[in-house]
Amino acid sequence: MSWIHAKAHDTVARVRQAKDKQGYPFFRVFDTGGGLHAHIEGKPVTNFSSNDYLGLTNHPKVKEAAKRAVDEYACGLSSSRPQATTIEHVRLEERLAGWMGFEKCLTFTTGYQAMLGTIAALADKDTTLVLDAYSHACILDGSFLAAGVPKNGPEIRFFNHNSAKSLERILKTRERKNALVICEGVYSLDGDTAPLREFVEMCERYDAPLIVDDAHATGTLGASGRGTLEAMGLQGRVPLVISTFSKTFGGIGGLLFGQEDIVEHIKNSARSFLFSATLPVPIVAAASTILDMLEEDGPKLVTELHQKATYFRDGLKAAGFDLGASNTHIMPVMCRAEVKAIFMHVALLECGILMVPLVYPSVKIGEERLRVNVTRGHTQEDLDRALELLKTYGEAFFVLSGEDIGPFED
Ligand SMILES: Cc1ncc(COP(=O)(O)O)c(C=O)c1O
Repeated sequence: MSWIHAKAHDTVARVRQAKDKQGYPFFRVFDTGGGLHAHIEGKPVTNFSSNDYLGLTNHPKVKEAAKRAVDEYACGLSSSRPQATTIEHVRLEERLAGWMGFEKCLTFTTGYQAMLGTIAALADKDTTLVLDAYSHACILDGSFLAAGVPKNGPEIRFFNHNSAKSLERILKTRERKNALVICEGVYSLDGDTAPLREFVEMCERYDAPLIVDDAHATGTLGASGRGTLEAMGLQGRVPLVISTFSKTFGGIGGLLFGQEDIVEHIKNSARSFLFSATLPVPIVAAASTILDMLEEDGPKLVTELHQKATYFRDGLKAAGFDLGASNTHIMPVMCRAEVKAIFMHVALLECGILMVPLVYPSVKIGEERLRVNVTRGHTQEDLDRALELLKTYGEAFFVLSGEDIGPFED
């Protein structure tokens, strides 16, 4: 057996053991749908782990636009952007830049690649990358990628999650001349917002450019869905924002917003942009249609999401659930034990409610939870049924009482 087989063997053994205990919650296969209302093994499920925050992914106009683009351009362009940029890409980038209030927008094939490419194009040996301790994988991977460049890697430092005081300490004690600070507008595992005003002021004071990853806030925060900057009145004060089409925009694709020269620099140097295939036009067409809807009806769509999120939050709170630090539509139901999170997930799924559990190493031990996202696309019936079942199983598995039920039995 080669070492790669030995390595695979350990992973496979862990997954098999979890499956034997019915405790492997990932890669569930949707037979149909796949969005907020799907089928798993022939049974209908309501999905509360989807990021289709405004429930627009399945809108007939969005699907129609994608189908038309298939006829006009095919599924893909078989090349990367330097050789394959369409007028649809250019128009959408111009419209998005205008909508968000930035000079330029650049679309990548995924949000993950947008972050990787941006960090690697900006950070060098004269840079300290200053990251929140809860940073998403794309921020960590982009930073480690940059740090691995021989003789030209940046220093990487972390500040305590959402702490302006800790951020300042790092900015004061950094070893390199330039600092680049990166945080998220809304954190996807905890559903809490960054204290962005404090961060912006701190970054301005220390002359440190700030990148905000607003993947979970685009379309969900701000009166018209423009994200954290709009919600906190900070438009024009953050040099770079990164977002994605994989949540509110219902498809796939990364977005970079910034000042013209900086975006031009990244466009001409980000390897994850230059050396990966162009975002397919059907996806561009779908995103463009969702942008039409946000331009026309943004405030109404965002208000409807917030009304549903408030209803659900109130219901969870009244039942006594611990939602951690959440103050958005992302509401982790804290179980604080792996076994409880898995039991809750399995029981809920049996009843047609999908809430994917997050356990170690995705979260710290003691912070195990169900990932629960409320979206505008959930119906009143979906919300009420999920609340009722959460209460039933929250009591049955001692999530509400906090009583210990021990580890999995072998
Ligand atoms: C905070 C954050 N940034 C970036 C990404 C990556 O986005 P994409 O799915 O477009 O690669 C995600 C997606 O999970 C995310 O949660």
